[in-house]
Amino acid sequence: MLVGMPLHQQSDIAEKTAALRALAGEMRAPRFPEQPADGRATFQLVRQELALDGNANQNLATFCSTFETEEEKALMELSINKNLIDKDEYPQAAEIESRCVHMLADLWHAPDAGNACGTSAIGSSEACMLAGMAMLRRWRNRRKAEGKPTDTPNLVCGPVQVVWHKFCRYWDVEIREVGMAPGRYGMDAETMLAQVDENTIGVVPTLGVTYTGIYEDVASMATALDDLQQRTGLDVDIHVDGASGGFTAPFCAPDLVWDFRIPRVKSISASGHKFGLAPLGVGWVLFRDRAELPDELVFHVTYLGGDMPTFQINFSRPAGQIITQYYGFLRLGREGYAAVHGNSYDTARWLADQIPGLGPLELIYDGDPAGGIPAVTWTMSENPGVTWTLFELADKLRSRGWQVPAYPLTGALEHQIVQRALIRMDISLAEIEILVRDMAEAIDFLNKHPVAVPMTQEEAGNFHH
Ligand SMILES: Cc1ncc(COP(=O)(O)O)c(C=O)c1O
Repeated sequence: MLVGMPLHQQSDIAEKTAALRALAGEMRAPRFPEQPADGRATFQLVRQELALDGNANQNLATFCSTFETEEEKALMELSINKNLIDKDEYPQAAEIESRCVHMLADLWHAPDAGNACGTSAIGSSEACMLAGMAMLRRWRNRRKAEGKPTDTPNLVCGPVQVVWHKFCRYWDVEIREVGMAPGRYGMDAETMLAQVDENTIGVVPTLGVTYTGIYEDVASMATALDDLQQRTGLDVDIHVDGASGGFTAPFCAPDLVWDFRIPRVKSISASGHKFGLAPLGVGWVLFRDRAELPDELVFHVTYLGGDMPTFQINFSRPAGQIITQYYGFLRLGREGYAAVHGNSYDTARWLADQIPGLGPLELIYDGDPAGGIPAVTWTMSENPGVTWTLFELADKLRSRGWQVPAYPLTGALEHQIVQRALIRMDISLAEIEILVRDMAEAIDFLNKHPVAVPMTQEEAGNFHH
C-alpha cells in the first residue's frame, strides 16, 4: 500500500503520483484512514484544497479579520499550545485577559474601570449568550424577590443577528423583535416601548445592525426607559450588542453616547475578531459592575490548581487570540484604531458616492462614522426599469472573485433586497476602485443581456452571510 510509504523513499515518479492519487482518494473517502501517510504530501494536498476557498481579501461579506501582521502571526504561533482555562499553568495569559477587560472597561466608560467585571469569549455569540443569561437571572431574581411569576420572560430587540434568536430559543425566552418598516431600518424608542412589559428581561439595541451596518440609538431608548420607570416603576435593563460598533464608535464617533455612560446599560458585548482587529476566535462581554453578574453564574474550579472563577460556556480555549488582541491594543492605542478605521470609513464613503451613479441603485447606509460601521448598503430604486436584481449583480461580481452579498431585509421590508459591502482595514481604496469598475461592467452586461427569469431568493441563498 503506497499510502503508508514515505514519499522520499520512492524514487520512481510514477509511484509518487500513485501515492498522491491514493492519498487524494483517502481524503475524500467517508471513513477514517487506516494507514499513516507522508506528512509533506498530505500537507500539499490539504493546502491545494484550501486554495479552492474564496479569496478573503475580496470577501466584502464578512465582518471578521482577514489580515494579520507578521508580529501577530508570531504571537499566535508562540501561544499555539496555551490553554486559556489553565490559569494556574499560564498565569501571564490569564493576566493579559484581565488587562484587556480593564482596558475595554475604560474604553466603554465603566464607572470603575479598575474594578471592572467581564470576560473573553470565543466570539460575540458566546458573549451575547453570557450577557443574556445574566439578564435573565437578574430579572428572575428580582421577580422572585417580589413574589411574582417568572415563567414568561421576553426580550425586546431590533433586527438582531441570529445569536439572539438562538439565545431566546435555548433559554425559553420570547423574542419580541421589532421588524423593519419603510424608512425605519431598526428599533427606535417608540417601537421598543410598545414591546416592553413587566416580563421583559432586557432591551438589546445593536451598535451596527448586521443587515445594514447602522447604529441603533441606544441613548434615546435609555431615555424612553427612564421615563417609563418614572411613570410605572418598571425598571428595564439594556444590553448593547456592540459586535462591530463596540470597536468603531469609541474611536471614530467618541461623542456618540451608547456605552456605560448611560446608567441603564448594564452590559456590552463585542467581537474582538471583527473591528477589534484580533485573529478569529475572540469576543468580549463586560458588566458595568460586579453587581450585574449574578453570583450563581460564576463557577469556581480547583482542579487546575488555585481557585479559578469561570463564567464561560466552553472550558478549554486557545489563548492566542486574546494575547494577540492585547498586542493590538498596545500597538495601536486609541489613535491607531481611529486612524485604521478612519481610513476604512473614508473608503466606504468614496464607494457610497459612486453607487447611485452606477445604475438604478439607492443608498440605505453611506458609511457615516456617526451613524454606523465602515460599510455601505444599497438597494434597487423603486422602478428600476431593468430585468436584473441585486442577486444577479452579486452573482456576476462573484465571477470576478468579489463577495458582495445580496439578501432580503426583515419585518415589513422582507421583500426588499439589499446589497452590503463591509470595508475592513485590509480593503484598500485602490481595491474598491476596481470593485466599482467591475460593478459598472457587470451592470452594463446585465443591461445588454436581459435576464429572462430573475433568480429566486432560494437560488440566491449562497450569497447570504
Ligand atoms: C450584531 C451582531 N451580533 C452578534 C454577532 C455574532 O458574532 P460572532 O460571529 O463573533 O459570534 C454578529 C456577527 O456578525 C453580529 O453582527
